[in-house]
Amino acid sequence: MHTQDITLPATGHASSGASTEEDLQAHWRRVVGRRSFLKGIGLAGAAALPGSALLTDSAFASTGALTKGDVAILRFLAAAELIESDLWTQYAELGGVNGGNQAYMAALQNLDSDMPQYIADNTDDELSHAAFLNAYLKSKGARPVNLDEFRTLPSSKATGARQIGRLTNLMALDVDTSWYVRYRSTQNPDLGAHFPQAVTIRGQAAIPLNDTDTPPGLPAPVPPVGAQETRMQAIANTAGFHFAYIEQGGSSLYSIMALKATSLEVLRIIVSIGGVETNHFSLWHDKAGNAVAQPLAGVTDPETGVTFPDLNAKGGELNQTNLILPEPAKFLRGLPACSIVRPTLDRLGGAVATINSFTADRLFEGQSPKFFRTVLKLAREADAASRGAV
Ligand SMILES: [Fe+2]
Ligand SMILES: [Fe+2]
Repeated sequence: MHTQDITLPATGHASSGASTEEDLQAHWRRVVGRRSFLKGIGLAGAAALPGSALLTDSAFASTGALTKGDVAILRFLAAAELIESDLWTQYAELGGVNGGNQAYMAALQNLDSDMPQYIADNTDDELSHAAFLNAYLKSKGARPVNLDEFRTLPSSKATGARQIGRLTNLMALDVDTSWYVRYRSTQNPDLGAHFPQAVTIRGQAAIPLNDTDTPPGLPAPVPPVGAQETRMQAIANTAGFHFAYIEQGGSSLYSIMALKATSLEVLRIIVSIGGVETNHFSLWHDKAGNAVAQPLAGVTDPETGVTFPDLNAKGGELNQTNLILPEPAKFLRGLPACSIVRPTLDRLGGAVATINSFTADRLFEGQSPKFFRTVLKLAREADAASRGAV
């Protein structure tokens, strides 16, 4: 099976796409070279080498096959990262630091002047996650994941978007914003708590659809003046909430998969990438809050009616926009509240739950039945993994 040949867009990240690819390849050449060397000198010879040159050298991947469960976890995570990469690439083409839609970039910059840079960097991170996980699977003799046959969904027609097939659809999203309340609450979804939506976002584009709807030369005053400017700001605000929605999902997913890993190295990979998903979430949590705080709050999309109210005006800690760090919440019964990633139960944030949530988000609108069968099979296999099973 051929892996996807990932070409990173020139998004202005410190490490360009080409050098990331080269770094990865050089790294894997070193791993393979070292293995052949060990094979050549035999086990006894290898045992005589200083420990730092052998298995204690954690800069190299360990040898040995993975358990079926570890392969299933990594294969699902690779699929999730290909999905993330696809959606982030669409955001980066239009709104990243080298993005092609000035009006979208200007509206995003009303959330934070550094938004285009952050979008570019988040995109590069996802591409690196997908490429790394597939390379690691291959290095272990396991099958990498390739979703290329499902890159069938249309691109935005707005200036800046490449006209290529996509895995995901960002043009009519139902964005779940309950994470905003969940992370401000002392209650825990794993203990049965439910949370309302902070903002109701239904059937809303998160990227500009075409130049008639939102011309690429539009200004972005705060507050927006005029129907097209207001529409573009509502689209950018939706993106802000969607970024955080995606990344809070990744934070839970990686935490949950970590609990199932058998190999210490697989666990290391999961917690190392998972920490970055949480890092992403924290960043976007802060930016989304600016859509529902003064001076930007109060935007209503003239086409969809989606409204971004002033949440601070509502009052209370469940609304306050700058409470972006996870409130200590109930965790283990009988013990004090703790500031944690939540949920961490399969049922709420595992692999199948993640695909179901993305489906409810309408991220896969227009995908084929085969796509859903494929990703749900990967998801079920990952959820079935259990630590220590062979
Ligand atoms: Fe990722
Ligand atoms: Fe991510």
